[in-house]
Amino acid sequence: AADLKTILLEINKKAAAYYYYQLRQETGKKALEYLQKRELSEETIKAFGLGYTGNYSDGLYRYLKSKGYSDQILKEAGLFFFDERQGMKDKFWNRVMFPIMDVNNRVIGFGGRVMGDAQPKYMNSPETKIFDKSRNLYGLNIARRTRKNYLIICEGYMDVISMHQAGFTNAVASLGTALTSGHASLMRRYTKEVLLTYDSDEAGQKAALRGIPILRGAGLRPKVVNLAPYKDPDEFIKAEGMEAFEKRLENAMNYFLFEVQVLEKEYDFNDPESKTEFYRAIAEKLLEFPEELERNNYIESISKKYQILPEDLRRMVNNMALSG
Ligand code: GTP
Ligand code: MN
Ligand code: MN
Ligand code: MN
Ligand code: MN
Repeated sequence: AADLKTILLEINKKAAAYYYYQLRQETGKKALEYLQKRELSEETIKAFGLGYTGNYSDGLYRYLKSKGYSDQILKEAGLFFFDERQGMKDKFWNRVMFPIMDVNNRVIGFGGRVMGDAQPKYMNSPETKIFDKSRNLYGLNIARRTRKNYLIICEGYMDVISMHQAGFTNAVASLGTALTSGHASLMRRYTKEVLLTYDSDEAGQKAALRGIPILRGAGLRPKVVNLAPYKDPDEFIKAEGMEAFEKRLENAMNYFLFEVQVLEKEYDFNDPESKTEFYRAIAEKLLEFPEELERNNYIESISKKYQILPEDLRRMVNNMALSG
């Protein structure tokens, strides 16, 4: 018998084909219209293998049973749940489906979105024997072939797809989970630089702050893209277009300057004491650069931006270094 992983890959592949087919049926019309409303082209829908569950609560289950799979094996696929009274049911129902592929283009799981405002907005396959969320990135199967020397990381499926459609085929997303060192080392196989395009809300900013050290830990150079006043890359591109987005990428902020900019919000520049504390906090952060040249470069940029003399800031850092 083929091993479990092989069978699970086969089941996910058949599920993707089933969802893809359902999108083209009469019952899939509203799902197709939803994707069109979100301005996805036919080509994009195909490239990402987007689909629709159909609106039976056990359509996929019955389809796969007809292909001869046992309940026992189907339970391992993460696509069904068992209801005491009704038996096996599809986990995803009446949702637009995003197949998640590994770097070798094998379907390992799914994300599914409601077409309206119902909750939860997205559902994802649980981790299975073939789906490790901390070691896979959505879109990397395509992004790995980019000729650009950086990857773009964002929050959502729709952000990845929008960016790809606009020509930024080097975009990836983590799978509804926080960025892990597994993601970072995966990216490091393909590039040295990563542009963060997380949502411009507070959650997105926190995610960026948490992601930076993880990326740096894997030897990557993170930079942060400002999407304001838009919420995410998808909305930015829809509103401003690809050229404006390209400019934002070009102006991506150095990660350290981004961290300092976030820090700045905690202080009050009109209060001399608070202002001094801010400079102290910067000086302390500057200690993370042991190399003098690099530290000096940061001192130079920061002193320009935050109205402090470079020699004052340098003295502060040096005193801190001495006092351990
Ligand atoms: P759209 O509304 O379709 O543009 O989605 P979005 O990607 O902008 O949504 P959001 O910024 O809220 O979420 C980013 C990512 O987090 C999504 O792509 C999902 O992977 C995940 N996510 C969002 N909402 C949920 C949820 O309710 N449950 C789960 N499990 N994941 C979610
Ligand atoms: Mn959400
Ligand atoms: Mn968000
Ligand atoms: Mn978003
Ligand atoms: Mn969005």
